[in-house]
Amino acid sequence: MAGSGAWILGWVFGLVLTQSVSTSTSPICKALTVVNNSLGVKERIHFMRHNMPINYTIRVHYEEIFKLKNVSRLRRNVEGLEDVDLQVTWLRVNLGILKKITSVLPKKHPSYNFTSNLETLFLSVEQIFPEGRDPPERIQQIWDALGSSLGKRWNVATPKSLLDNCYQTMHCIFSSCFPSSSNYCQRAHWRNEKKAQHQGVPKN
Ligand SMILES: *[C@@H]1O[C@H](CO)[C@@H](O)[C@H](O)[C@H]1NC(C)=O
Ligand SMILES: *[C@@H]1O[C@H](CO)[C@@H](O)[C@H](O)[C@H]1NC(C)=O
Ligand SMILES: *[C@@H]1O[C@H](CO)[C@@H](O)[C@H](O)[C@H]1NC(C)=O
Ligand SMILES: *[C@@H]1O[C@H](CO)[C@@H](O)[C@H](O)[C@H]1NC(C)=O
Repeated sequence: MAGSGAWILGWVFGLVLTQSVSTSTSPICKALTVVNNSLGVKERIHFMRHNMPINYTIRVHYEEIFKLKNVSRLRRNVEGLEDVDLQVTWLRVNLGILKKITSVLPKKHPSYNFTSNLETLFLSVEQIFPEGRDPPERIQQIWDALGSSLGKRWNVATPKSLLDNCYQTMHCIFSSCFPSSSNYCQRAHWRNEKKAQHQGVPKN
């Protein structure tokens, strides 16, 4: 676990090479595999809960609470929505969250390197993301709200819950990177993970 930081960083430098050597494999999926491996439930509990003060919350935009429920609601209600719109939204939401978490941690905090390396990784994913199309209006509104510091709608959330959302929605939205017979978009899929956490790990 202590090595996670170095591992993420190693990937970021590896990206440049991967890009120029191979075009057949998707660099985005490769990056997301690193995110997947870095944000397993153990890591989320360790870095985002046990290393934090009890019940510690950060202030986020309403739009930064981006859960499976949001994804299904958007898919249901927004005409012309494409996966790429959700993917860009996911990236922007979580980049903002990682920036916020990094900004409240002192450099010597045991979760600092982990979080800031993830932030670097997300920034590099943003760089390789295909040029955006014009998204449906509703999605544009979300992006505008995320980019605005004037938004008056604030919420609070624990870093752990925010990264739980990040992890779960990633599997749902980038389905080609995480092929599986189970449906990651359904809450039911994640219930076991949740149960295991409450049984096996002391809650704080
Ligand atoms: C994602 O991580 C989980 C465990 O943390 C692992 O079982 C799974 O194989 C990983 N998926 C991919 C596509 O790397
Ligand atoms: C933390 O939150 C839980 C659940 O909301 C609550 O039961 C507990 O008392 C809180 N702990 C502290 C130290 O505030
Ligand atoms: C997700 O839904 C909640 C309400 O359940 C809302 O506050 C939040 O803004 C939504 N997030 C996005 C990105 O639409
Ligand atoms: C964090 O990273 C910096 C530079 O990469 C390194 O010097 C430092 O030892 C790391 N800190 C921890 C706690 O791993």
